[in-house]
Amino acid sequence: MTRKSKWLTVGGVVIVAALIVATLLMWRPAIAPISPPAASSFDAQTKLAGARVVALGDCIVCHTAKGGQPFAGGLPLATPFGTIYATNITPDVETGIGSWSLEAFTRAVRYGVARDGHLLYPAFPYIHFTRMSDGDISAAYAYLMTREPVSATAPANDLIFPLNFRPLLAFWNVLFLHPGAQQADASKDAQRNRGKLLVDGLGHCASCHSPLNAIGGEKSGQAFGGGIVDGWEAPALTALGAAPKPWTQQQLVMYLRTGRASEHGAAAGPMLPVTRDLATVPEEDVQAIAAYILSIQKPQPAAAHATADIAAQGGNSPQAQRGAALFAASCAQCHGPAAPMQSIGERPTLAFSTAVNAATPRNAVQMILSGNGWHGEDSMNYMPAFNQVYNDQQIADLASYIRATYSQRGPWQDVETMVAKVRQENNAR
Ligand code: HEC
Ligand code: HEC
Ligand code: HEC
Repeated sequence: MTRKSKWLTVGGVVIVAALIVATLLMWRPAIAPISPPAASSFDAQTKLAGARVVALGDCIVCHTAKGGQPFAGGLPLATPFGTIYATNITPDVETGIGSWSLEAFTRAVRYGVARDGHLLYPAFPYIHFTRMSDGDISAAYAYLMTREPVSATAPANDLIFPLNFRPLLAFWNVLFLHPGAQQADASKDAQRNRGKLLVDGLGHCASCHSPLNAIGGEKSGQAFGGGIVDGWEAPALTALGAAPKPWTQQQLVMYLRTGRASEHGAAAGPMLPVTRDLATVPEEDVQAIAAYILSIQKPQPAAAHATADIAAQGGNSPQAQRGAALFAASCAQCHGPAAPMQSIGERPTLAFSTAVNAATPRNAVQMILSGNGWHGEDSMNYMPAFNQVYNDQQIADLASYIRATYSQRGPWQDVETMVAKVRQENNAR
């Protein structure tokens, strides 16, 4: 045997051994199907508690397709590895979770394993839900099992090879799934501990607000350091002090419950549905979340002072000058200093907007391209989408203009490149 072939043999044995270990790791038994429990087997108290849990966990946001039935699944979730469709979690026996026992449901939420034993993709944030208490899980189960059953099957996932091979998730779970209840920190007060549990567990805030590594796991040691989701930047939650005005707990509670806070920006993109859900839970939960978020702030360099009364002067760059004319035509009626809407409902001026003061133009550009949908009664957040109205250069001019006019921070570079990039990402979704 040559040296080389010896090494090849050793290599082969190692690979086979790894595959055997992997098979053992990934194997999960099916849990026997049950007939759906009668609605009367769940008491009103538990269902009510379940409504709160389901709202805090945003279950409806991911599990409802655009214009679809609540919890019936089918919403496409774009990931760097392809598209994953959220499944039907109504109690329909054939297509939903009607035949799932509480045991099977608990295993899915804590370990990302479906009733029949297949591993679920971490687009379902079970690595966070694993912190949920038994009480919260059975309440959520009671609530979901008493919804209207809907017959609906999500489209097949469209993932790149080899990630379409679910057993590989066993390796991912070894790295990123750390089950176990969260221990309360005895040195901290009860509100902050409750907030941490909600933020890390049910609220799964880190799944959007943390940077991800190349295999889609949250980078260790950088929790809440800011991430990108659906083409939006989810700002660092540890750097709220970088805002033009420091956040108070009350403003944070307002933002999380209404999508808008005085002296700060408004929630748009994927954050808006989060705030809609948080609007329905008891205020004490949101106070706890806000208290915890304020307790994890990292020191920031002194922020530039922003003023509310901005002169209607843009910067002097040619982009910003071109943007000024577009702004007067399309934006000033809502955002200009004299706009009647400016003062309604404590609408924040663009001067306080995180998007306008951010290090990159991504969210300002995304806001102009996509706007904020019209949501019936909740029309306060409505902003038209300008993606069909203006070309890349014009969108970039508008962004440059609002940066120069409303922020004390320096101009953004390569704004037009960002516009093209965000537009391309949006089209691909
Ligand atoms: C960020 C999006 C997201 C959120 C939030 C979310 N889910 Fe899911 N969930 C998914 C996706 C995607 C799948 C499908 C994963 C797959 O097919 O591998 C899924 C699958 C499931 C399954 C397995 C169903 C099946 O048929 O295999 C259950 C049960 C479930 N979710 C319950 C919940 C509950 C309860 C909540 C709220 C506490 C919730 N989900 C919140 C995205 C989400
Ligand atoms: C589905 C992804 C997603 C989830 C889940 C999510 N966020 Fe966000 N969040 C975002 C995005 C995107 C933005 C930026 C929105 C914008 O610019 O309008 C944002 C903005 C924010 C802001 C404003 C930050 C600033 O500097 O202006 C706060 C505060 C916030 N989120 C807190 C939370 C908390 C607390 C949770 C968990 C309860 C949470 N978020 C869960 C995506 C998410
Ligand atoms: C019909 C009114 C309306 C028009 C027209 C409009 N917007 Fe908006 N815009 C809104 C609303 C509502 C929000 C959400 C925040 C709020 O409530 O103030 C918003 C938010 C924004 C934000 C994010 C602010 C934040 O708090 O993070 C930016 C940036 C922005 N708009 C820029 C523009 C630009 C540029 C134009 C013109 C091309 C424009 N808007 C036109 C109503 C409008």
